[in-house]
Amino acid sequence: MTPTDDQYWTDYDGLQHAKHALLNRYLGGWYPILSSWYGRVLYIDCHAGRGRHQSGQEGSPILALKRLLEHREKDRILSSTEVHFVFFEIDQINYDELCSEVDALGTLPKNVYVHPYQEDYEAYLRGLIAELKSHGQQMAPAFAFVDPYGFKIPMDLLNQLLAFPRCELLINFMFRYVDMAIRIPDQSTNMDELFGTHEWRKLVDIHDYKTRVKQTIRLYAGQLSAQYVTTMNMLGKNNAVKYVLIHATNHQKGRELMKGTLWAVTPDGTFTAHELHTPEQLVLLAPEPDLRLLKNNLSREFAGQTIRMEQLYEWLLDTLYLRKHLHQILREMRKEGMALFSDYDGSFAFKKNPCVEIKMITS
Ligand SMILES: C[S@@+](CC[C@H](N)C(=O)[O-])C[C@H]1O[C@@H](n2cnc3c(N)ncnc32)[C@H](O)[C@@H]1O
Repeated sequence: MTPTDDQYWTDYDGLQHAKHALLNRYLGGWYPILSSWYGRVLYIDCHAGRGRHQSGQEGSPILALKRLLEHREKDRILSSTEVHFVFFEIDQINYDELCSEVDALGTLPKNVYVHPYQEDYEAYLRGLIAELKSHGQQMAPAFAFVDPYGFKIPMDLLNQLLAFPRCELLINFMFRYVDMAIRIPDQSTNMDELFGTHEWRKLVDIHDYKTRVKQTIRLYAGQLSAQYVTTMNMLGKNNAVKYVLIHATNHQKGRELMKGTLWAVTPDGTFTAHELHTPEQLVLLAPEPDLRLLKNNLSREFAGQTIRMEQLYEWLLDTLYLRKHLHQILREMRKEGMALFSDYDGSFAFKKNPCVEIKMITS
């Protein structure tokens, strides 16, 4: 067991809490969405860990399982869908503890299956993908959580997973370690694999820290074969970025669900968690979101144009704002005479997909 490993399971800091809060909230929406379409779905925990911290908090595999077992729609979900939990944990001690935690849940309901493997996730998944491909088969819709201590997560493997229809990823990108490794010549092969390109070499020359963070995440996100990439910054004690949670999906519903999850976990709209925050602080620090930027962007993009609400929703997907935020701004603009609605029957409602004319700002 490495010292990192031991300390990881003794500690439970604000970042571990925020990571689990995000996972918990997202899966609460993911299970019902996926099960309404498919007969089988997979939750894959590539770095499952022990299942529980020493202080009692659940680790990701147990949390994911319990999120389903305690879901208010559990019976409906499981009446039509098999949910398979695939856990990879390479370390013997961690694996044994994980299996005990799973056993402690008792007999699982029909259609819930747990597959714990004491294996290297990468070797196993590469083998599985090769086998599926050789038989011309697809993987069942899957949510894969990639949560290593370091950065042994090759881009080509992640993109092979994303290439399956309805496979999405939540990746814990260890920014702090990567930011050190890009300067170490011995690590260049690992960095090539991590980024899936040689372009990361340019990051070394960016001296401004904030710009380097932004460009590193931009490069990494751009290499993922996903239409929608959503990120949450996780800051250490010194307020420097420790890691970044990166959600990648090719589906609009996944993007919308993750946006809603981010606002729920960080209601201040900063999409940032702090190592020193206690769980309560995440909730207490919840002022009204500042929607001025949304209003400005909307005016800049559409002033002088008439568009349908559906087009505005599409535009909104590329931002982190939610439909309720757009509605709030449009209601205000309607009152001010800056947004005019037409082409709807009966009383006004956004869901009737009316035309919206966004007025030019004249002064
Ligand atoms: C950060 S911890 C996982 C924490 C867990 N996801 C959670 O949120 O509770 C990383 C775990 O990955 C395991 N691990 C490291 N390399 C692995 C590999 N190649 N395959 C499978 N497990 C691995 C480690 O033993 C460790 O338990």
